[in-house]
Amino acid sequence: MAGQIRVIDHPVIQHKLTDMRRRDTRSDDFRRLLREISMLMAYEVMRDWPLDTVEIETPITRMRAPVLAGKEPCLVSILRAGAGILDGMLEVLPSARVGHIGLYREPTTLTAVEYYCKLPEDLAQREAVILDPMLATGHSAIAATSRVKESGAATVKFVCLLASPEGVAAFHEAHPDVPVFTAAVDSHLNSHGYIVPGLGDAGDRLFGTK
Ligand code: URA
Repeated sequence: MAGQIRVIDHPVIQHKLTDMRRRDTRSDDFRRLLREISMLMAYEVMRDWPLDTVEIETPITRMRAPVLAGKEPCLVSILRAGAGILDGMLEVLPSARVGHIGLYREPTTLTAVEYYCKLPEDLAQREAVILDPMLATGHSAIAATSRVKESGAATVKFVCLLASPEGVAAFHEAHPDVPVFTAAVDSHLNSHGYIVPGLGDAGDRLFGTK
């Protein structure tokens, strides 16, 4: 199966993303912008959520009205920068379950090393939506997706803010069945594994650690 990518290029998202990219955008604004973009992306990511109907009474009459069917999805945040997307997604999907996977980039090989994993026990009955703002080399995204699949998730989606062409290709190669949602695909990766033009280190910018 060829990998699927959905670039959510709504003008409001693109404007907010430009503000996030600016080097002089402060951490508080960066956090707010990522939260707002994530809320907007959540609508598109969940567009295929099936509907059921229930009988209700309006002030005028009875009707069958649509409601979301099945169990809520599980949002899986890749620590630490995934927390920035998680906040916005939870505003739109407040009853979603939440999982966390801790991965760090081994500085010389840039491979992903897992140091933490906590996922809901009933993941097999849920859709897992994996969150990480930057799909750069793809190593963390691939490792987290493998972990989520091993844990039995019914279906899996991957959501990021920015992707590199190299990261998208690597991810599609490893997980051709998992659709990728992003706000933009940038030019390339530099030799340090950063997305160009990108926005720098998403975790540091979110949490003001540099
Ligand atoms: N992680 C980041 O935070 N930024 C990049 O550009 C690449 C990986």
